Amino acid sequence: MKNIILAITGGIAAYKSAFFARLLIKNGYNVRVIMTDGAKAFITPLTLQALTGNQVHTELLDETAELGMGHIELAKWADLLIVAPATANTIAKLAMGVADDLLSTVCLATTVPILVAPAMNQQMWQHPSVKLNLQTLRDYDYEVIQPASGMQACGDVGEGRLPEPEYLLEYVEYFIARHTTPQLLAGKNVTITAGATVEAIDPVRFLSNHSTGKMGFALAKACRNAGANVTLIAGGKVHLPTPLFVHRFDVLSAEDMLKVAKDCANGLALPCCDDEEHDHKHHHHDHNEFGNDIEVEPISTATDIFIATAAVADYRTRDVVPQKIKKTQDEMSLDLVKNPDVLATIAKEFPEIFVVGFAAETQDVEKYAKGKLESKKLNMIACNDVSRSDIGFGSDDNAMTVFFNNKNEPVVLEKMSKEKIAEQLVELIGVELGKKFTFVKP
Ligand code: PMT
Repeated sequence: MKNIILAITGGIAAYKSAFFARLLIKNGYNVRVIMTDGAKAFITPLTLQALTGNQVHTELLDETAELGMGHIELAKWADLLIVAPATANTIAKLAMGVADDLLSTVCLATTVPILVAPAMNQQMWQHPSVKLNLQTLRDYDYEVIQPASGMQACGDVGEGRLPEPEYLLEYVEYFIARHTTPQLLAGKNVTITAGATVEAIDPVRFLSNHSTGKMGFALAKACRNAGANVTLIAGGKVHLPTPLFVHRFDVLSAEDMLKVAKDCANGLALPCCDDEEHDHKHHHHDHNEFGNDIEVEPISTATDIFIATAAVADYRTRDVVPQKIKKTQDEMSLDLVKNPDVLATIAKEFPEIFVVGFAAETQDVEKYAKGKLESKKLNMIACNDVSRSDIGFGSDDNAMTVFFNNKNEPVVLEKMSKEKIAEQLVELIGVELGKKFTFVKP
């Protein structure tokens, strides 16, 4: 899905569409731009032509345009159409099926997915007619991107801003991934631990390790793309942006991580999500077509699949010293006690959850991984060699051997990007889940 029609309508946010077009081109998409008359009042076609390298389409009834790429060819050329910004007027026209200009006609003529990014004054955004029209669009399978809130060009503060171009790009990439990935985990609640835990020694020092969270965050994206509702529990040293539509809890220590993991397993942890549309499935309220609040059946958020990529500190100091430890002695020793095992606890206390462990080894990889698979009572364990500098901690790539509780033959995943290896793991999990009721845990 590389051919994108970017349709720009007449709102002040149209200036952001130039940056968005540029970002799409930089990321390898072919972009053709449609502009309405209103859009041309805010930004010129020449700007978009220069940025995309393609002539901009503006007229429905234009003899020369129809000789080149007319509205039907344009509709067929695209893999995806995104209207950004979409004004209240355009939204109303699309909802009514009006076809009085190029954009509205192409929207009727195309069979490809259509994304709509509304942008308007916050008062207009709250108007029931806008809400009703957007609901109509959703019923027609258009996907509506929730506007951002904040200071508006007119001076008002509220909801209705066009999200930033980087967000729109991330949304497009997520949307394409969702449409091209087998939905192996559709509707499943997946909880993933990621990164290093931080065990305080005193107010300034801590025990930790080199895990960055990259592996766990890549898995979160892959699970989300496969249809799962994903919650990430990120350790204290993770500095990665949260993937779109993934819930995130930040924790410091192993004990904190276990607490949140248990809440997730019990379906008690419900973080807020910025996006109303994508979060509504967990809420007990929804809106009917007239915008009224209605009761809907709650859907369980309890974990179905638990994946432990976090590098959890095995030990913590017996007590956290309340004040900074002074440099007085030549030697000092720390009194350490064992941390709870997050993964083993979840596997033991929630036997209905499908549990996937990771094993970071430096020697006798297979022996130790199999040992952990059995002792922690896991369904699967993905083992990586962390003595190599080109994979494992911090790097963008990984390689692993995956062992299963129900078969002897492991699956070897050769070195590839953490994103790709995460997709492969999701496939393996999907296959095992299909057999969920036919095997017994050790
Ligand atoms: O985060 P990155 O920089 O991308 O690096 C990824 C990684 C190398 C950290 C990752 O691929 C990995 O190997 N994660 C597991 C690290 C680890 O702690 O392995 P372990 O063999 O010590 O633990 C075995 C399993 O038990 C792991 O799933 C671990 O999350 C879990 N565990 C361990 C101890 C503990 N107290 N609680 C746990 O849940």
